[in-house]
Amino acid sequence: MSKYSRRDFLRKGALGVAALGAGGLILRANAEPTETSGDLKDYAQIVKAESQPRVAPTSWKPTPDNILGPFYREGAPYRAKITPPLEPGKTLLISGRVWGLDTRRPIAHATIDIWQANTEGRYDNSDPNSPPAKGIFKNRARLITDETGNYEYETVHPGHYQLWPGVWRPSHVHYLVQHPGYQTLITQLYFRGDPHNAADRFIKESLIIPLHEDKAGRITYETGTFDIVLAPAKK
Ligand SMILES: [Fe+2]
Repeated sequence: MSKYSRRDFLRKGALGVAALGAGGLILRANAEPTETSGDLKDYAQIVKAESQPRVAPTSWKPTPDNILGPFYREGAPYRAKITPPLEPGKTLLISGRVWGLDTRRPIAHATIDIWQANTEGRYDNSDPNSPPAKGIFKNRARLITDETGNYEYETVHPGHYQLWPGVWRPSHVHYLVQHPGYQTLITQLYFRGDPHNAADRFIKESLIIPLHEDKAGRITYETGTFDIVLAPAKK
């Protein structure tokens, strides 16, 4: 309360905000959705509407894991655009849904860490002599799945990089998926048709998705869908 006057408190309280603490906004216990929030009571109807033409996975197996790699950084900001403005590269839109293997239903509020190389195959921390500034996360983000388990982000098609002379990694996006009721999944997303897929030692077939090209005015961009199935937490 010290930073805010009683008048501020009362005014914000009237808008559904009970307090402004060090951690940010806290909603009143009796806060109601606004008109534009939609009616969340009919969950089944929302899932049905949102999932068309999207469907549940045909094979109910946990999404395979993959190596974490050396470039993960904790604490990326929550945002749905992975790259900074005007980042070079072909625009790529990825969407998907996180599912529970046990319930065969979408998982709301799973956290997904995303990190990837830029179009030239470099991470923001690839060069140990030039580490990123604290709090600056380039080509990294965290997302939270919505009420229907969906996530979506915009990025650029990641570039290839060389592990050692003559050995290249195919384009890929790293994922770390977490939810309290499920086993944490560390994996990678790959793209069909990449020239380096065949020789890669880490790639797994079910982590490869097709991409579709689309056009918006003069801009050509790619879209793809990557659904994830999480195994329940061990008891
Ligand atoms: Fe990587």
